[in-house]
Amino acid sequence: MTTPPPPGTREWRAAVAALHAGLDQAHYGSIEQVPTATNRFAFPLEWSNLRAAITGKGRRLMEHTVSPTFHRARFRKRHPTQERLFGLFFLGEATARARVSKALDSIPDAPALEELVELGILADQERRLRSTLRFVPLGGDLFVTDPPDRSIPGFTYLGRDSAVLSDLLRSALRGRSFERALDLCCGCGVQALAVSHHAGSVEGSDINPRAVAFAELNAKLNGKAPSVSFRVADLASGAAPPFDLIVANPPYVWMPDSERAANLDGFGGAFGLEIVGKILAELDCLLAPHGEAHLVAESPVLDGTPLLPRIAAEFLGETNIGASLAPLWYSVHRHRAAFQRRGGSSYNIYYHLVASRDLPPGIRIQDLRWPSRLAYGTYVRMAARAFAKPRGKRVPNPGASP
Ligand SMILES: C[S@@+](CC[C@H](N)C(=O)[O-])C[C@H]1O[C@@H](n2cnc3c(N)ncnc32)[C@H](O)[C@@H]1O
Repeated sequence: MTTPPPPGTREWRAAVAALHAGLDQAHYGSIEQVPTATNRFAFPLEWSNLRAAITGKGRRLMEHTVSPTFHRARFRKRHPTQERLFGLFFLGEATARARVSKALDSIPDAPALEELVELGILADQERRLRSTLRFVPLGGDLFVTDPPDRSIPGFTYLGRDSAVLSDLLRSALRGRSFERALDLCCGCGVQALAVSHHAGSVEGSDINPRAVAFAELNAKLNGKAPSVSFRVADLASGAAPPFDLIVANPPYVWMPDSERAANLDGFGGAFGLEIVGKILAELDCLLAPHGEAHLVAESPVLDGTPLLPRIAAEFLGETNIGASLAPLWYSVHRHRAAFQRRGGSSYNIYYHLVASRDLPPGIRIQDLRWPSRLAYGTYVRMAARAFAKPRGKRVPNPGASP
């Protein structure tokens, strides 16, 4: 499938803008329940996820439901017209030409089907059509990014963790305002746009030029362009501190070096925490006196001890910045379980880290409530055992999560 590069031609941008506006007007942007089977084996045991999987009701783009067919049927009943375009633009499904043509008629001022094909926004596949763009509704904004396919050169990631941090930010920042915000490893701009509601200006940076082009496009499409800007950069290089708010959903997955080239969005270096460590090391220079940083990252647990708190203590220990780490879930990577176990870790803990000089110096680790701890403990034990068994062919991760 050929993928037109953003920013694309003027015609490409105009067509994407018209499609985006039409989908938004037809209320696609406000539907965050999209039942899909993607990555369902990796879904973490999380109460909101389980509830969503059972009831089909969640605030989240549901990448992790255990019963996609059932929920999809319910979804079809509730949103009969939208269902067709959801499959095409939101879930990456190949859809019959006639169905797409009919469904596009229900989108105000949508470009004609032939124009979308000509511009490469829809790719022809034996009388079926596939979208080369993926639309994702999140927090009231409608994002465009790549479909989950890491074979796309410069693949731009938007996954479950993007939604998790964006949700956390919205609740942590409610009713608060900041002057200057920085989004490190911005991807297609999800976090930058989430904090733009609370900051006078937002700067985002990513090492991947295609991600930056998507981020710029998303800021424009969602009407945030004047106060949000993006650039290609290695972490904060070239940024002019201080910043009142720093957010980052960086690459943090511990995987073999051989996967790096194909997984720039997930590859976190040694123990997955090399980039996270670099960000923490820069916080002292970057954060304004009362500034606040929010990061999400996954930490391997080595000999029963999670590594991230140790790294945070190492990099923030000499500063007057305090940090609090809230565990969100435990996980075992299905295809990396053996690799990580050889390195000394049988499961990971996913954290939300908040750092600020207004917090008492030192690292405070919060605990999960005991029912969650018990549930996750059981889950990771079972998952570690199940994933240790040799399975037939390795199923490559298409890109829905790192
Ligand atoms: C997990 S993705 C998250 C993207 C986005 N923040 C989100 O929440 O959807 C990590 C991003 O970090 C970028 N990245 C990797 N190494 C980087 C570096 N050294 N400096 C800046 N960005 C980097 C990748 O290109 C990718 O877009």
